[in-house]
Amino acid sequence: MKIDAIILAAGKGTRMNSALPKVLNNLAGKPLLQHLLDTTKELSNCKHHLVVGNQQALVKSSVKTSKNSIWVSQSKQLGTGHAVKQTLKNLRPNSTALILYGDVPLITSKTMKSLINAAGSKNLALLTFEPPKAKGYGRILRDSKGKVIGIIEEKDATSKQKAITEVNSGIMAISSNNLKPLITNLKNKNAAKEYYLTDIVELATKNQMLVKSVKPSSIEEVLGANNLEELNTLERSYHVMKATELSKNGVSFNDINRVDFRGDIKIHKGTTIDINCIFEGAVEIAKNSKIGPGVIIRNSKIGEGVKIEAYTLIENAVLEKNVSAGPFAHIGPEAVLAENSEIGNFVEIKRSKIGKGTKAKHLAYIGDGNVDEGVNIGAGTIFVNYDGKNKNKTSVGKGAFIGSNSSLIAPIRIGHNSMIGAGSVVTKDVPAQKLALARSRQKNIRKK
Ligand code: UD1
Ligand code: CA
Repeated sequence: MKIDAIILAAGKGTRMNSALPKVLNNLAGKPLLQHLLDTTKELSNCKHHLVVGNQQALVKSSVKTSKNSIWVSQSKQLGTGHAVKQTLKNLRPNSTALILYGDVPLITSKTMKSLINAAGSKNLALLTFEPPKAKGYGRILRDSKGKVIGIIEEKDATSKQKAITEVNSGIMAISSNNLKPLITNLKNKNAAKEYYLTDIVELATKNQMLVKSVKPSSIEEVLGANNLEELNTLERSYHVMKATELSKNGVSFNDINRVDFRGDIKIHKGTTIDINCIFEGAVEIAKNSKIGPGVIIRNSKIGEGVKIEAYTLIENAVLEKNVSAGPFAHIGPEAVLAENSEIGNFVEIKRSKIGKGTKAKHLAYIGDGNVDEGVNIGAGTIFVNYDGKNKNKTSVGKGAFIGSNSSLIAPIRIGHNSMIGAGSVVTKDVPAQKLALARSRQKNIRKK
């Protein structure tokens, strides 16, 4: 089936009180509009029609669209019906038009599909729900037999109609062939003097078309964001929805209300997530890992059985299986930690490879390093990688032991199984198997 997804995004969003056009307000790390673009990718044979008006150049440059998307300009915002009208000439014959509102971004592809199925080739399918507060939404009008016969906007509703608890999500599906005549017949006789898309419901029933209502799987999916307060509610709803979905697949959370997902996040079963963690960008965490409280992971891959302790920041990094990291470690950008390595308290690792089973458990800076397997990096070790102009490399061979509080002045090579005496400032390469001492011998001098 061909789907023509029409996304309404021309409004200014006056109620949002922000300089940005409404659909560019940020939700879970990306613009509201991007959520719909990403979700509709899950529908097959779907073409996007994006209706833009306010700050349209900015809107166009701020989202990523698929190749077959069409930008449609609505120069004056004369209402949601008028917005849809601008797309009519581009709709494909016999397609299903799926109308989405740029400010209702959390709808799932599953709900979109059930709406498309309910529309079939003859019906108008409408996504309705009962929010805790109906204020601001269009109310669904039904006849005495329960059949949907219209939608009344809040501005035009009588107090009796305002008491109706079932509301319009704004989202609907109808064959493009049937949509065209309905839209063409819209009038703007209402309080806002706008061409309301919602009036096609009454027109459809007058044309003997069946109007079917579909309910979303959760209310969160269809909450709209007209002001910052509603945007806050949506933000939390998004993370709760994502955590709930992951929980169904075997990921445990200490509290689904205290976790943020800002990107494309994959977490596999058996993994546990403590409170206040943030996942950003492309993140994948393999099974049976343990993520402590306050951990931030950006654009990284975490292997199986990894243990990350409290307040650790991981960015652009790969942690292979059974690595342990933190508490309070900063790993990355560009760090690769091989399996069973252990990175502890207040250790920073940047542009470096850490070999299998290597340990740096306390207070160290490892920058531009290539550290082999089984190395022990003592507390206070610094890879002195910057000479004021250039970043230089340090390599440490297998089994080496770097004594506490050593400075390795790069570029430098530390041979395998060598040992650096604590407190050394090492400026020359150290051959394999040697003990290097680069500090002055202790003198005990009589006090005056
Ligand atoms: C709309 C519905 C209401 C529904 C609610 C759900 C209408 C008339 N009302 O009200 O029944 O309960 O959404 O969230 O449709 N837009 C344009 N061009 C325009 C006007 C709007 O592109 O000329 C876009 C806006 O940018 C926005 C969307 O359409 O993304 C909805 O417009 P908005 O003004 O927010 O409608 P609501 O008052 O929320
Ligand atoms: Ca709205």
